[in-house]
Amino acid sequence: MSTLTLRRPDDWHLHLRDGAMLKAVLPETSRHFARAIIMPNLVPPVVTGAEAAAYRDRILAALPEGADFEPLMTLYLTEDTDPADVRAAHESGLIKAVKLYPAGATTNSASGVKDFDLVRGTLETMAEIGLPLCVHGEVTDPAVDIFDREKVFIDQVLAPLREATPGLRVVMEHITTRDGVAYVRAGGPDLAATITTHHLVINRNNLLVGGIRPHYYCLPVAKREIHRLALRSAATSGESCFFLGTDSAPHVDAAKETGCGCAGCFTATNTLSILAEVFEQEDALDRLEAFASLNGPGFYGLPPNEARITLQKGEPVDYPAKIESGDGPVTVFDPGFPLHWRVS
Ligand code: NCD
Ligand code: ZN
Repeated sequence: MSTLTLRRPDDWHLHLRDGAMLKAVLPETSRHFARAIIMPNLVPPVVTGAEAAAYRDRILAALPEGADFEPLMTLYLTEDTDPADVRAAHESGLIKAVKLYPAGATTNSASGVKDFDLVRGTLETMAEIGLPLCVHGEVTDPAVDIFDREKVFIDQVLAPLREATPGLRVVMEHITTRDGVAYVRAGGPDLAATITTHHLVINRNNLLVGGIRPHYYCLPVAKREIHRLALRSAATSGESCFFLGTDSAPHVDAAKETGCGCAGCFTATNTLSILAEVFEQEDALDRLEAFASLNGPGFYGLPPNEARITLQKGEPVDYPAKIESGDGPVTVFDPGFPLHWRVS
């Protein structure tokens, strides 16, 4: 197979930031993707419907001329979130999900949830109206090893939370373990997971062997090889509970290549070429459309995109090592192997 036509894909987990960075990274996504779930972890976070509406306007204003792209907005769940505001933002069509960050779990998550009893009212409202909760699935207890934080979160936080809130629809974001894969597979129709591009490609050796690679550092951190293989088999399985959320998370090089570097891999630029390569390696090119274009809309109750994109296989694709932003250069994720599929 040397050409592949898919419905236009969507990205179900994306960081666009704001200001100069937004302007720089948005075209990298809008070029190929029709829609994206926009993460609300700005500083300060996007907490209210009014803040989400204002952020949406800034995104639309930053779109390149003629781009066909719809930002799907989210609210950042805090202990002070007002269930009535969430309900109104959902009813007006503004938001498609609410994001749960355990306080301190990742970049800009200080306003996240510590006491889950304080968000019970919001979660119950969400279950009632069918609004999905996107979950950053890691505990923050300093006593828990960073490589175990996803599994412990499932056992100690997510399973009890779902049990206490029947009908709540949950997306476990950027799963990184075979435990996450197994939990989601067995979770029934109200549970799904996004999988990033980079977690299909790197394991923790890529991050740490032969020198520390700051551009492979993200959260949840890449795990050992058995987990990467479980993610690859889930993503390429075609199962409706697994879909693409790139978690493309730009930070300027100065913030990554430093004594205490930020977490996040910037994959928007070459994600589709990487995914085609990965799916081809797994002999699953015919299931790329399910992962990138069908399963996400299915879970979110949205129609798949009517427009199509075509990928063509040929000589290795050139992509920039960095993109420039007004805040400084941002390194594009290097999968470590040549990419032969280009979007035509
Ligand atoms: C994200 C970011 O930079 O905002 N970083 C990351 O490593 N994925 C936050 C997140 O999604 O955890
Ligand atoms: Zn993210």
